[in-house]
Amino acid sequence: MPRKIKIAPSILAADFLNLGREIEKIQNAGADMIHFDIMDAHFVPNLSLGVAMLEQIRNITTMYLDVHLMMDNPEKYLKTFADAGADGITIHLEIHPDPDAILDHIGHLGKDRGLSINPDMPVEKLAGKVKNVDRLLIMSVFPGFGGQSFIPESLGRLAQARALLDREGRAEAELQIDGGVSGKNAADIIRAGADCLVAGTGFFRADNPAAAVAAMRGQNA
Ligand code: DX5
Ligand code: ZN
Repeated sequence: MPRKIKIAPSILAADFLNLGREIEKIQNAGADMIHFDIMDAHFVPNLSLGVAMLEQIRNITTMYLDVHLMMDNPEKYLKTFADAGADGITIHLEIHPDPDAILDHIGHLGKDRGLSINPDMPVEKLAGKVKNVDRLLIMSVFPGFGGQSFIPESLGRLAQARALLDREGRAEAELQIDGGVSGKNAADIIRAGADCLVAGTGFFRADNPAAAVAAMRGQNA
């Protein structure tokens, strides 16, 4: 059976003055989850969303909330994000080179455990480190800002990551890609092995969000 492809709009690109409507847009477009980017102006050169916004979104939707922590010391905030309504929490290998303990902590909070690498981190650095992951996120831009161009080498990195998950007995873990994703490059991304596509501008700047989701899945709307 072909893998189900999940689409995760990143609300970093949403209209914050109409956030309730933007969440409805995600639901009505047939997307699978909401991607929530947390930036600390330290690990990445930008500040973004906070816990209060996550809580408010949790109050208006039952959709899966996928929290991507681009911040130093994420271990101090796991419970805060878990309590605020995250369903999955992704941390960066750049911050936690030995991520087992923090991934265990996320698991003990009852949340899906995500691990991410930036475009300049060799995929092989993940060897031996994915046994505790539910989600592996390959960044296809340097994190910090939405609207950047997809780095083409990310396709090869996805294929390497897929092989690594298979080799390490984690074939069922989700392989996620984040940055510069749109209907134009989605087919190549899926072919390379991704099964969850995060899209900020590719979703929120689309004239027809449902068609954008379908196009990213490789379907007609
Ligand atoms: C990048 C963030 C992404 C971002 C993607 O730092 O992690 O989730 O919102 O935005 P687009 O799809 O516009 O590249
Ligand atoms: Zn993200």
